[in-house]
Amino acid sequence: MSNDEYPTENPAVVTAGLPYANGDLHIGHLRSYTAADALNRALNAIGQQSAYVCGSDMHGTPVAVNSWQQGVDPEEFALEWHEQYEETFPKFDVEFDNYGHTHDETNTELTREIVCTLEDEGYIYEKTIEVAWDPEEDQALPDRYVEGTCPYCGEQARGDECDEGCGRHLEPGEIEDPVSTLTGNPAEYRKREHKFFEVSALADYLTEFLDDLEGTDNAQNQPRQWIEEGLQDWCITRDLDWGIDYPGDEAEADNLVLYVWVDAPIEYVASTKQYSERVGANTYDWEAVWKDGQGGVSASDASGGSPDERREAGGEIIHVIGRDIIQHHTIFWPTMLQVAGYNAPRAVCATGFITINGKGLSTSRNRAIWAREYLDEGLHPDLLRYYLTTNGGLQQDIDFSWEKFADRVNGELVDTLGNFLYRGLLFAHRNYGGRPDVGVSEEVEDRIEEALEEFNEAVNEYDVRGIGTAPVDLARFGNEYIQRNEPWNLVNDDPDAAAQVIRDCVQLAKAIAVLAEPVLPGKAEAIWEQLAEDGSVHDAALSAALDAPPESFDEPTELFAKIEDDRVNELDAKLADRIESTASDDEEDANEGTAAADADEGTDTADDGAVPDMEPIVEDRISFEEFQELDLRVGRILSAEPIEGADELVRLEVDIGVETRQIVAGLQQLHDVDALPDTKVIVVANLEKAELFGEESNGMVLAAGEQADLLTTHEDAVPGTRVR
Ligand code: MF3
Ligand code: ZN
Repeated sequence: MSNDEYPTENPAVVTAGLPYANGDLHIGHLRSYTAADALNRALNAIGQQSAYVCGSDMHGTPVAVNSWQQGVDPEEFALEWHEQYEETFPKFDVEFDNYGHTHDETNTELTREIVCTLEDEGYIYEKTIEVAWDPEEDQALPDRYVEGTCPYCGEQARGDECDEGCGRHLEPGEIEDPVSTLTGNPAEYRKREHKFFEVSALADYLTEFLDDLEGTDNAQNQPRQWIEEGLQDWCITRDLDWGIDYPGDEAEADNLVLYVWVDAPIEYVASTKQYSERVGANTYDWEAVWKDGQGGVSASDASGGSPDERREAGGEIIHVIGRDIIQHHTIFWPTMLQVAGYNAPRAVCATGFITINGKGLSTSRNRAIWAREYLDEGLHPDLLRYYLTTNGGLQQDIDFSWEKFADRVNGELVDTLGNFLYRGLLFAHRNYGGRPDVGVSEEVEDRIEEALEEFNEAVNEYDVRGIGTAPVDLARFGNEYIQRNEPWNLVNDDPDAAAQVIRDCVQLAKAIAVLAEPVLPGKAEAIWEQLAEDGSVHDAALSAALDAPPESFDEPTELFAKIEDDRVNELDAKLADRIESTASDDEEDANEGTAAADADEGTDTADDGAVPDMEPIVEDRISFEEFQELDLRVGRILSAEPIEGADELVRLEVDIGVETRQIVAGLQQLHDVDALPDTKVIVVANLEKAELFGEESNGMVLAAGEQADLLTTHEDAVPGTRVR
């Protein structure tokens, strides 16, 4: 390895992949953000100057498509999510030094500047290409506006990514059998002029870059293979009216915006810059991190100067991402940085995917553990942080279940960590009022030193799991140490020996607090308080683990509570109900795909749900306008009564915002009629009135399948909201 070990003389920056500002955060997101947060905290603990930056990804079709579906302006839509993320991350102690967004001025300016440099350096050219087009809407269909078949692996794919198959980035025009997600029409092609970045000219540079790259293996091996297969140039513009305009008048007139993957990673730099501007360059200098402090390299260096030399003068750039965006971070991004005269990343750490009870996490199917929901359950954020960061190595996929979550919490945090701390500190408080007045034994000092070394190694290997398990391993030793020495038997017979054992335990507790800080910041703070330590554990250096704790402290309280089986069953049942009441009905799955494009964040994996025999899809297509003729509204059932003499029908009063409707529906045998009031439903509001069993029915309530599974909303759309 050619890089200096951490801590180095240079400032570091840890980044996490920017979340698209288009939907709720879930554990798929939290996995990366907590891992990067822990890594940054651990780097600080070992004495590395390091900042953690991120921001919301506001542009591109992931935002444009979803905001369009909701009939909202994309900027307003994205800002709302941005604000929600800003509120949510701190609740998980994901503590960014700066959290910006890609639509802010810093990023917009920096992006234009960088693109202009790429132009000036001669790496941008224009080319006429065929782009997918919706004939009916008469508009271009970039990226997520189109779906089809991946030309590499044959799986169903999105316009710019094979999200369910091989994971490759797809260039405009590459996808086969493209279908418009706006109208469901097969897409046509139109010739359009676009800008290309000459990535293919940088293959040698990339090979060299990858030789030095640290982080997870997947982030080194996959790009090597792509380079071997031959690099293509990269289309960096889109026919879209949401994004950062391509710099220059002529292109603006053409309505070309930059492809979202150009301005998104630049936010890593922009966000660092904002942080630097806030704290002052003397405290943290963004240019030292990103630009060698020399203001970039000249054109002739662009494919010269080894990445290694460049980095030695600059900072340590560490990217933590999901493994679905490796190509963007190991091919496109480093070439942009190189040509624009910025420093190369030192490490790319790509996390595996998350499945839930063995099935792919799917936001559209509500098969996810949502960040807000987790907090609403009153579960401590540290438990999830611990579970997500230590369940396996960063690269490994995690199969989440509440049962496995509870097992790890109960076994490692409650029985090992919590138990040791409580026993040790309670004994210390009761018998000595705090820390017994003797030195730490050699055995325990050695053991703590060993733990610190292991921690240091884990940080240097980006082994977040090792960082998280370090305090638990030390607590395991502590439990065994108490058990072996039985201080309760020694207090009377050999008080000195008893004091020694407890003194050692108090030191172990302090070391555990220091080691626990990166992954369990809240609990580390609590241990620090129990020890009556001054200052903040968040500022403690690793070496504080060996400093003597205060002489007196109060009676400790238990840090963790066991998650009982009943609670696990309850959480499980809630999850199952939620999935079922959302879209588990395979009929709906089969109908998914066109106008109902998934509001997902790039972390979905393929579903394994087998589809039973289904009614074939109706051949005749309807136009989007025809679909718009349906007036679908969110309603809330106010009352429900069986209709006498008609053993299937119920008479519903449904509030649809504008008015209250009487609707007759065939729900009597399939639902608990008394439980219907308060249920949110979807109502066809402009259906002809009908009379059933002498009762007027003014509208229709939508339900799926034989069991009349009622369609509902999963967020807080109010009665009267139009469904599109
Ligand atoms: N928003 C992207 C996604 O969720 C990630 C952007 S990461 C950055 O897949 F590198 F572009 F910043
Ligand atoms: Zn593919």
